[in-house]
Amino acid sequence: MTTNVQTRLTGPLATTRDLSGHRAVVTGGAGGIGTVTTRALAERGATVYIGARHTERAEVVRHSVLAAHRLPRTRIQVVALDLTDADSIRRFADEVGQAPIQTLVLNAAMSSVPFGRDANGTELQFATNHLGHFALTGGLLPALESSAGARVVTVSSALYPNGKLDLGRLDDPSGYSPGRAYIRSKLANAVFAVELDRRLVTAGGAVRSFGAHPGMARTPLHTTYPSAVTRVVTGMLARTIGRDPEPADIGILAAALSTEVTPDLFWGPIGSRRNPHAIGVPYARPAKDRALGAALWSASETLTGVSFLSGSEPAIR
Ligand SMILES: NC(=O)c1ccc[n+]([C@@H]2O[C@H](COP(=O)([O-])OP(=O)(O)OC[C@H]3O[C@@H](n4cnc5c(N)ncnc54)[C@H](OP(=O)(O)O)[C@@H]3O)[C@@H](O)[C@H]2O)c1
Repeated sequence: MTTNVQTRLTGPLATTRDLSGHRAVVTGGAGGIGTVTTRALAERGATVYIGARHTERAEVVRHSVLAAHRLPRTRIQVVALDLTDADSIRRFADEVGQAPIQTLVLNAAMSSVPFGRDANGTELQFATNHLGHFALTGGLLPALESSAGARVVTVSSALYPNGKLDLGRLDDPSGYSPGRAYIRSKLANAVFAVELDRRLVTAGGAVRSFGAHPGMARTPLHTTYPSAVTRVVTGMLARTIGRDPEPADIGILAAALSTEVTPDLFWGPIGSRRNPHAIGVPYARPAKDRALGAALWSASETLTGVSFLSGSEPAIR
């Protein structure tokens, strides 16, 4: 099914696949939206590998989810992953990618922090939210390709169309705005989701790439803004219009699990705060921009030193 109009799913999780025997990865699975995604996959039978910076804290989350939902101990595993550290990404991919992976959820993010850089000098939110996930996807691609019909779900934000992907200024602190840098990284997530799917289709395999978002959700993500005013305003917004992580996760889960979703749409929640539906809407123009997709891919390969699907770039007309 391919469509250019929105698709609203009333019961996407009623049409999920049985995930017994599946292996799944959720980055940032030890907090916020990622924990809900981890639990939903584990409940359906998948073994879920949580990529986490703070493994001790992640183990506490793991134990509480396993106990609360009476899941077998092996159903959730914690593996160290720091998305700003190339060696950590490589170790994670080497360990977890030893066997086929059916679901990769690129969920972890940092939001709206003061200007910082990764080891190569790239602005930290872009490095964490996009580059780390780019390198991880490259590292796990053989494991994804070796399972039938694997999915990569990149978690972006509904605000991505407001971003500017100024690839020539990724190390430039002048005029830095924490919020704008976050939105730039979320635009990169959306452009990546679309470009990855193009390249996967061109390569002719069965892996597909989906983009999704949680709307506004009440998670720790909104507590890091350097400006006290922004923290207060966003906190109020999260309390009044934000959803709890579980209902907010519906579009991400639909993208990961439902048999009714298509990769050409961007998936998120719509409707009531407690019981939303999943909706897929067409991507906004910058996410579909083929030249921008190719430029992001090339910049990401240069900045990470990780190259994949490079012979599979679709022709730009
Ligand atoms: N909450 C919202 O309203 C909202 C809206 C739009 C989009 N989103 C997106 O939804 C996704 C989940 O966000 P959330 O709200 O659940 O945020 P969250 O509660 O802050 O969780 C983010 C997770 O990312 C992990 N993380 C941060 N930096 C990392 C790094 N360098 N390496 C590995 N893991 C790292 C964090 O781990 P630590 O504990 O180690 O920091 C944490 O587990 C993100 O992609 C976010 O952009 C959220």
